[in-house]
Amino acid sequence: MDNPPARGLPPLPNVSIDLDSGRLTGASSGYAKRFAELRGVFADDEALTALIEERPEAVAYEVSEWRRSDEAGDLAFGTTVLQPVMVGREFNMTRGHLHRVADRTEMYLGLAGEGALVLTGPDGPSRVVALSRGSVAYVPPWTRHRAVNVGSTEFAFLFCYPADAGQDYDAVERGGGLPIMIVSDGQGGWRAETRSRHLRGAGTVSGRDTGRD
Ligand SMILES: [Fe+2]
Repeated sequence: MDNPPARGLPPLPNVSIDLDSGRLTGASSGYAKRFAELRGVFADDEALTALIEERPEAVAYEVSEWRRSDEAGDLAFGTTVLQPVMVGREFNMTRGHLHRVADRTEMYLGLAGEGALVLTGPDGPSRVVALSRGSVAYVPPWTRHRAVNVGSTEFAFLFCYPADAGQDYDAVERGGGLPIMIVSDGQGGWRAETRSRHLRGAGTVSGRDTGRD
């Protein structure tokens, strides 16, 4: 896109977001991810299997997005809404990805509920950033990332990222999953724990920016 368009403006979004629910209207694409599609993502396979047997159609999270193109320089934005569900001791979370163009970044804005963003750098160290209404998080280049609902209500956030970034989900799975998991602390809160079963992409939690303990 080195030259300006010959005339006029490209199509503009007609999008609105309900700030209390995170629901976006006017999306150009979207999907609902069911727990049945997340086998191998959670540490506790038995708990996930039991959940799927009991509620085969249960939705883990929904993503709605608007984009004009996949071109470098363009932006894509949208919202994700994660359901409040436990899978064993682990909180419900997105599958997690590295951007296919791995130096591409992303920003998140918490809208509703209580969440956490797990960030794992290329050489392993991880950070967990708490996200609630109004908090902003940044995903650096070359960083695997995943959102987690750590609350008892829906967790919704806005995301915005370069439209040519893409998502490489296999990069997380090839690395054995993210090296930490977000689990119940047994007292109504959450904590980050080393994911011992998935240590091929080993790392440590080097810090935790959180508004709650
Ligand atoms: Fe992303």
